[in-house]
Amino acid sequence: MANAFSGKREMWSNRWLFVLAAAGSAVGLGNIWKFPYIAGENGGAAFVLIYLSCIALVGVPIMMSEILLGRSGRASPITAMQKLAEASKASKYWAFIGWLGVLAGFLILSYYAVIAGWALNYIWLSASGGFANISASGAEDIFSGFLSSPWQLLFWHSLFMVFTVLIVGRGIGKGLETAVRWFMPLLFILLIILLIYGFQSGGFQQAVNFMFDFKIEVVTTETWLIAMGQAFFTLSLGMGAMMAYGSYVPDSANIGSTVIIIALLDSFVAVAAGLAIFPIVFANGLEPGQGPGLMFVTVPLAFGQMSFGSLFGTLFFLLVSFAAITSAISLTEPAISYLVEKYNARRSRVAVSLGLFCWVLGIGTVLSFNHWVDLTLFGRTFFDLVDYVSQNIMLPLGGMLIALFAAWRIPDALIIEQLGVKEGYGLYSWKILAGFLAPLCVALVFINTLFPDFFEVINRFQQG
Ligand code: TRP
Repeated sequence: MANAFSGKREMWSNRWLFVLAAAGSAVGLGNIWKFPYIAGENGGAAFVLIYLSCIALVGVPIMMSEILLGRSGRASPITAMQKLAEASKASKYWAFIGWLGVLAGFLILSYYAVIAGWALNYIWLSASGGFANISASGAEDIFSGFLSSPWQLLFWHSLFMVFTVLIVGRGIGKGLETAVRWFMPLLFILLIILLIYGFQSGGFQQAVNFMFDFKIEVVTTETWLIAMGQAFFTLSLGMGAMMAYGSYVPDSANIGSTVIIIALLDSFVAVAAGLAIFPIVFANGLEPGQGPGLMFVTVPLAFGQMSFGSLFGTLFFLLVSFAAITSAISLTEPAISYLVEKYNARRSRVAVSLGLFCWVLGIGTVLSFNHWVDLTLFGRTFFDLVDYVSQNIMLPLGGMLIALFAAWRIPDALIIEQLGVKEGYGLYSWKILAGFLAPLCVALVFINTLFPDFFEVINRFQQG
């Protein structure tokens, strides 16, 4: 059945370009901006270990499920699910996963582009020497001044969206592959330069302690839930991005080992980003627990106080922007591939329309930091709400259903063929991992999201 649905579709030139593209999708703001500060806030080493086990136990099986389904369907996630459901005699409503993913992709891209726009602005600010010798309050003023100006935010948001559309519109080979061929190696080189820079800044040992000192006492059920959410987001799971990328994967590639390489690359970048950022923070006697402001306040401040700070600051925000753009393009792939195959539309036109749609939606996020700060629904601003619904509800729901479908609904023969496992143990392990363990873990996250009190009760019970 592997090729039953393949027409004249584009394919990744080879397995390694797929690895680069998938790693490009996975490595993004989630690794460089989010991971370092949540690892620091949640117990360092204990968190890192829990996070890595979530990647292995939940992330890897779900990513394998997405790629397996994408490659068997050889179509956009919506069509692939429709066809696989039909061929497997499962309910046609499974295609809902595809629609849910398209919607989640729109929502995430709309705010992702706004935040990535901040990084673009910061390349410019660093390069023009805007951070040289600034004070802590100076760095904060720059950030809050920027956030309070909707026109500035809108400008950088628009610029990022234009870049995204330009790449996406050119298709898999000319657009996506060219982008990752250049950006991913550059990203690794920049990261290594910054790691070396951090290493000789004098704060490296402190940074290592901060991220890897095992503080078991700060671990709660909440830690697990945060780690799981992060594992999901950082691996780009739950909305069909990997399914769409998987639909261009050659039949000869081994799914299991490919996914493990992608997960390792992603985890490496997350840890390396922490080891690049924190030494500089410590060497300058700054506060590591800044939270979300770490990258836009503490980091510029730290670079501003160092020799060659403007140069390395520019490189740093360039790195963040590359990482963000190769993630953003994957957020559009489920929708774009669907519209292209359904209406036989030109890819570039579809890309422009989708970009425009997400750009308009993003204006809500832009305004959430200034004019609409006080406009809240359920106690959340527009941005918080979009972020919360997409990340905490739509992604886990999508991921859980994808794994369940890939374990129980499609024929065993297809699993065996796609994963290259043997009947018996191989197949059983798959069913236990993807069909049981991973969905169960996600279900726990879900319960916590919808009924936060549930785990509160367990925590209190544990503590007597
Ligand atoms: N993984 C990216 C990051 O870490 C974000 C991302 C890209 C994503 N595509 C996705 C998240 C699809 C969820 C689903 O920044």
